[in-house]
Amino acid sequence: MFRKLQFLQFIGAFWICIFLVIISCRAQQVPENYSNDSFGLKDFYQSYFSIGVAVGVKNLTGDESQLIKKQFNSITAENAMKMGSIQPREGKFYWREADSIVNFAVKNGIKIRGHNLCWHEQTPDWIFKDSKGNEVTKAVLLQRLKDHITAVINRYKGKIYAWDVVNEAIDDNPSKYLRDSKWYKICGEDFIIKAFEYAHAADPEAKLYYNDYNTERPEKRERILKLLKSLKDKGVPIDGVGLQAHWSLQEPTEKDLRAAIERYSSIGLKIQFTEVDMSIYPWEKERRARKPGESDEFTLALQQKQAAQYAMVFKVFREYKDVITNVTFWNISDRYSWLDEYPVMGRKNYPLLFDTNLQPKKAYWEVINFKNK
Ligand code: GLA
Repeated sequence: MFRKLQFLQFIGAFWICIFLVIISCRAQQVPENYSNDSFGLKDFYQSYFSIGVAVGVKNLTGDESQLIKKQFNSITAENAMKMGSIQPREGKFYWREADSIVNFAVKNGIKIRGHNLCWHEQTPDWIFKDSKGNEVTKAVLLQRLKDHITAVINRYKGKIYAWDVVNEAIDDNPSKYLRDSKWYKICGEDFIIKAFEYAHAADPEAKLYYNDYNTERPEKRERILKLLKSLKDKGVPIDGVGLQAHWSLQEPTEKDLRAAIERYSSIGLKIQFTEVDMSIYPWEKERRARKPGESDEFTLALQQKQAAQYAMVFKVFREYKDVITNVTFWNISDRYSWLDEYPVMGRKNYPLLFDTNLQPKKAYWEVINFKNK
């Protein structure tokens, strides 16, 4: 009888130990601060750089708005400040959505990055045409650009601390330089120079950025640098470069990421990572339909690879905190990402730090694990 009792005590103690081990492993993974309602990425990175997120008006209520307030201290309008949204017809300005985002940010003490003032996409066609439908002259187009930039910057003056002035002006083809957009066709390189000058005149305090993608690929990096250097040499008021960071499990490599940060900052520019996401699929440029049987399962192996890639890039970001002034995620969680539709329509992607229930993913814990060296 005594032996039996001892045996039962032993089994009981054994299971209590297992339970304690499990609890303590979890406690190690989840930092104590995390359970505080308002403590998030922004606080872990307080002495490094601000942490932002791209949003639409639909994100500003309910559980997503709670997540935004807990995790982020910088905001970008995903679409609401683009030319096509703000001035779809000449002189007709639609401020409602942009205003809502700005008001939400101001009310909650969140900084605002403006995005964007001049781009070849999501730009209304009227700007390039006269009343007869013919292409406008360079003088007319630059005047319209000036009017647009001045109106938008003036409306949010003192509230928006940095602007993406020109977006994606470099061609995708490595043997070409500036993209053959309507802006370029009508104005040559001057549309870039003038956009920065107009923005600076409207708000001399705002930090002005050139923003682009695939900025760590050495061939594109050098063409972007050529543009940035020529702007600086001409005395154009530019403060920094926005590296969009639409990345994947395959790129960038640590070497290319470091080289990019060093090359861009070597000409005296600040760096912001403006549209971070980490696709679980390799980069593709052209849109296509999802192939029959093409899997979009977010397997454990993919979760781990993604966490490792996020760990690497944030380790590098921390090392270069002197030149990096913001890191912004493009969308809030895997509940919705623009990559669910692009480039493969209907293929789910899982590129962010929070899952479809807004819970932190493995990648999140790596991003706040400052022991990653
Ligand atoms: C580019 C633009 C962003 C956004 C993304 C895709 O990177 O800069 O505004 O449109 O594409 O969503």
